Amino acid sequence: MKEIPFFCAFEGIDGCGSTTHAKLLKGFLTNLGFKVHLTREPSDSEIGHLLRKFLSDNSIPPTTDALLFAADRDYHYHVEIKKKLEEGYIVISDRYVESSIVYQSLQIPEISVKWVAEINKFVGKPDLTIVLDIDPKISLERKRGEPLEKFEDISFLIKVRQLYLERAKNEGYEIINTNDIIELVQEKIQQIVLKKLESVGVDIQTQKFG
Ligand SMILES: Nc1ncnc2c1ncn2[C@@H]1O[C@H](COP(=O)(O)OP(=O)(O)O)[C@@H](O)[C@H]1O
Ligand SMILES: [Mg+2]
Repeated sequence: MKEIPFFCAFEGIDGCGSTTHAKLLKGFLTNLGFKVHLTREPSDSEIGHLLRKFLSDNSIPPTTDALLFAADRDYHYHVEIKKKLEEGYIVISDRYVESSIVYQSLQIPEISVKWVAEINKFVGKPDLTIVLDIDPKISLERKRGEPLEKFEDISFLIKVRQLYLERAKNEGYEIINTNDIIELVQEKIQQIVLKKLESVGVDIQTQKFG
């Protein structure tokens, strides 16, 4: 089994399918013989647990949220992600820095994209960021039945989607529309990931049988 440090992050509005596709991608890459570590944000650390609790609490100031998300990520990267990459894992994160930049900067005018980026500047950048794009009307429909968290409101998600797309174009992230059935969307994701792995010198064939 070859050891390939490669860091891929999934981003997008609530219900875009990031959890679904992060899991499916893990299965696909594991079958190809890669060591794969799947993780998520908020992370599974104590800060992450606190953040998950705060997601259903509207009384938490947006600045507190932003600082805690940055703290959670800082810990997540330095204690978990970096270590796994050093051990030769492909790390897949279900959400990462872009989620904070987009969701937190749209809370109040005082929170700028620049400031959120600044407090998140100590962590490593993903080799590949994939933004899953979907109309919020469809994504919220997909999440029907689950209790809604504080950011899951249609007019807010329209703005979130817009900022994700704008940033994706400027930062060179991959954008994949998730209107299609899960299998087709996953296939597109796999193509992009394989292309990116090949572009950094990974021989997929050798990997498969090595
Ligand atoms: N392309 C798709 N078509 C139909 N349903 C989907 C699609 N992608 C995801 N879903 C479903 O939508 C719901 C939300 O997906 P999930 O992966 O949890 O989204 P997220 O983690 O981005 O909030 C799940 O029930 C999932 O099975
Ligand atoms: Mg999810």
